[in-house]
Amino acid sequence: MKHRDFLSIRDLSPAEIRAIFKRAEVFMKACPPRSLEGRTVVLLFEKASTRTRVSFEVGIARLGAHPVVLGVEGSQIARGEPLKDTARILAGYCDAVVMRTFGHERIEEMAHWADVPVINALTDLLHPCQVLSDCFTLQRRFGELKGRKVAWIGDGNNMANSWINAAAMLGFELALACPEGFEPDSDILDAARKDGTVVQVVHDPYVAVRKSVAVNTDVWASMGQEAEAEQRRKAFASYRVDEALMDAAAPEAVFMHCLPAHRGEEVTEGVLEGKRSIVWEQALNRLYIQEAIIEFLLQQGKEAT
Ligand code: CP
Ligand code: NVA
Repeated sequence: MKHRDFLSIRDLSPAEIRAIFKRAEVFMKACPPRSLEGRTVVLLFEKASTRTRVSFEVGIARLGAHPVVLGVEGSQIARGEPLKDTARILAGYCDAVVMRTFGHERIEEMAHWADVPVINALTDLLHPCQVLSDCFTLQRRFGELKGRKVAWIGDGNNMANSWINAAAMLGFELALACPEGFEPDSDILDAARKDGTVVQVVHDPYVAVRKSVAVNTDVWASMGQEAEAEQRRKAFASYRVDEALMDAAAPEAVFMHCLPAHRGEEVTEGVLEGKRSIVWEQALNRLYIQEAIIEFLLQQGKEAT
């Protein structure tokens, strides 16, 4: 059996997602067994990161494996070495590659050339580790997500696209409120709808949050879009998550944000720090879900040999 990559939530079956959630639940209660002793995982970051980088590095160490963090600066990537060459070198030394980059085609290229599991730690298109972990966080609170409604407010970005994939795999309803011209990826949307997923894309945040048990948002300008920040601030001005919007969601609704947050832009200080916010729990759960993903992918590789 060939090794498996995790570039998208759709790379896992619903049963595999359930198994990963179960394993994360174990890791949450006790430090994981050193099941990956002697293995090495390289973390390649072509964009900034705090949570993803530290949670992967800590998780890999807790599993008994050795993390190697490689930034672009200081490596030969910055000096123009082709990614397909880097991919074969890293796969020769290491048992898995975790990569954060810009265009999604870059991580696909890495996965094509690296003969080990490649894990998507964020691309411009998707952020699967974050959203899988967010679904785990929501499921722990509300039970099975099937039949529940989740809202996304703001940019149709990498997070929004991954929420659509998650809705398709876990069977919940998703409503996204995005300004015109900032809707999610149309192929991802079409694929989810074709599978029968209920995904609504609207322009009114109040329509999206109605009956939703979670209200999600993210920055208005993602990494790489800094030059558009001013124009985006204007386009997104009526998409801020504030107390009034949270009051229009289901009574038990929680506020979610992958962080980092821009207080006073996409979310008010009151909501972010308020009693409905679960952002710190969300961030912490990244550690357990990523441990479960790495263990799952590396044990698959082991079964293959
Ligand atoms: N949420 C998230 O991925 O955070 P970092 O950019 O800090 O890794
Ligand atoms: N959409 C954001 C997520 C950061 C974790 C970005 O891509 O910058």
